Amino acid sequence: MNVQGKPTRTIWTEEGDDGTWIIDQTCLPYHFVVRRLTSAEEAAYAIRTMQVRGAPLIGATAAHGIALEMRRDPSDPSLDWACSLLMGARPTAVNLRWAVERMRFALKPLSPGMRPEAARRLAATICDEDVALNRSLAEHGLPLLLQAWHRKGKVSPVQVLTHCNAGWLATVDGGTALAPVYAAHDAGIPVHVWVDETRPRNQGASLTAWELGQHGVPHTLITDNAGGYLMQRGRVDLCLVGTDRTTACGDVANKIGTYLKALAARDNEIPFYVALPSPSLDTSLRDGLNIPIEERDPSEVTHLTGQLPSGEVASVLLAPAGTRAANPGFDVTPARLITALITERGVCPASEEGLRALFPERYPETP
Ligand code: MRU
Repeated sequence: MNVQGKPTRTIWTEEGDDGTWIIDQTCLPYHFVVRRLTSAEEAAYAIRTMQVRGAPLIGATAAHGIALEMRRDPSDPSLDWACSLLMGARPTAVNLRWAVERMRFALKPLSPGMRPEAARRLAATICDEDVALNRSLAEHGLPLLLQAWHRKGKVSPVQVLTHCNAGWLATVDGGTALAPVYAAHDAGIPVHVWVDETRPRNQGASLTAWELGQHGVPHTLITDNAGGYLMQRGRVDLCLVGTDRTTACGDVANKIGTYLKALAARDNEIPFYVALPSPSLDTSLRDGLNIPIEERDPSEVTHLTGQLPSGEVASVLLAPAGTRAANPGFDVTPARLITALITERGVCPASEEGLRALFPERYPETP
């Protein structure tokens, strides 16, 4: 994506520099800050504190974290330590496990002397593959927006509702759920996005609104509670969200509040699509209710962070001091509420049959 006109990825390395660079997403939308990671600890910290977030970017950062550690100490104990440190950084996005296991599997058989270069190359490959996957998601999702535009008689923009941030910032580049939106916009199909603010961390307000603005896609920020109202009034043509983990039968874990949007969409007969790159598919789990759900700090619920008129970014208390708060980070949308999954291999029903037809190698036959 272009940031201030310059093609930019969310994670990158530079020639002649051993570090890995990230955009610190906790500073957006107020400040565009980049940080240099130099170790597995710093990569794990960036994931845990959500300097980087979004399932694909979490995986890519973990891969780079292992590569950084291999440069420091390529021994077996150091590889095991870095893998388990990064694996524990956040629990819900399966991309983290996917990337760590892929790095471990490739590096373990190598001699320590070969590991630093191999690790850096594989981390770069994981990043490049993410970009390619997202291009395919754009390609397969675009016809759905085009059809919606045709259904409307091509007279007004396609109205898309999205939750959280499943855009460029959640990936290495391109986004998952927003990839078809960018493709439609670039192809001249008028599109407008309803952006759920996505309490408590406000990824919609601070990140999705920011990146859609950078790309010039028309959008409107709404409270999380407004989606149902807009759907009832015929002001949403389709919902398009991402996923942190999709199970063998097509249940989808995504940012808390996604399930409520899917319920409202079903009640109003509005298509509800999930963009699913295959690293987010976890066929080791059948039932979405077995997905580990991250419980985050209650202070994210009791407090709100924003920019004061002075320019200072500050946190304010919303609730009576001492109020108890719960903060589950994700929920699970059952497959039956999902119209279709958009994958890099095509669009399929959210079901075991649908996924199995596109990803047979992920469903080893059971006797
Ligand atoms: O807590 P976050 O910001 O990491 O949650 C991100 C989401 O829920 C995204 O929708 C999901 O990771 C898919 S990103 C392509």
